[in-house]
Amino acid sequence: MSDNYKFFDAIADRRSIRAFSEEAVPREDIEKILSSAILAPSGTNSQPWHFIVVEDHDLIDQMAAVVHDKMDEILSWPENKNKERRINAYRRYFTFFNKAPVVIAVLGMNHQLIVRRVIESHGIEQKKNRPSAAHLSVGAAIQNLVLSVTALGYGCCWMTGPLIAADEIEELLNVEDPFYLSSIVPLGKPMEDPPPRSRKGLDKVVTWIGNNEK
Ligand SMILES: Cc1cc2nc3c(=O)[nH]c(=O)nc-3n(C[C@H](O)[C@H](O)[C@H](O)COP(=O)(O)O)c2cc1C
Repeated sequence: MSDNYKFFDAIADRRSIRAFSEEAVPREDIEKILSSAILAPSGTNSQPWHFIVVEDHDLIDQMAAVVHDKMDEILSWPENKNKERRINAYRRYFTFFNKAPVVIAVLGMNHQLIVRRVIESHGIEQKKNRPSAAHLSVGAAIQNLVLSVTALGYGCCWMTGPLIAADEIEELLNVEDPFYLSSIVPLGKPMEDPPPRSRKGLDKVVTWIGNNEK
């Protein structure tokens, strides 16, 4: 397979899209996107995910409203008096999802590998707060999802900002244990064409060991 394979185009062309047309997304396309999401690898093939496709605009508005309310609450805390402008700058980035024709709420499930459980019950605690295989698996599914959105000519944005009101959104969507809200992905036909955001170069993020090739 060559480097021209379209897969790499989808990776390069993907942008976080924050403006959408009102045009509905056909169910067939949403199913294609979700079918790609569930092909992601997951720890012990546990598939610890669930997707809630929200096309009910009253509900989407309610989801955005609880994020606004949470923002207002945070702003009312006395310790944030001088940070009002900086905190408010996030507001749009946490709530624009209500302008999309479709919002996918991605749920994760707390699934612990048996070996992890055995190690923990032996009294050994992790030194670092490492993400679980379940969290990583959900991330892999979301990455498949966003790339498929791009490949089909739609735009989307992977969002965790709205999770400041995760409990309230979970209540609106009837999310129950063992599921939790992991991310929100608004999607639709893009109404913007943002330039690529910069990335740290490979020289900054890669360490080679045992390879002297320069
Ligand atoms: C886990 C995750 C959470 C994100 N949450 C938000 C968000 O809440 N709001 C937002 O506007 N963008 C969000 N983004 C998008 C990032 O800002 C964006 O990926 C980054 O600026 C790089 O731009 P690009 O996606 O166009 O390459 C999130 C991205 C990821 C991967």
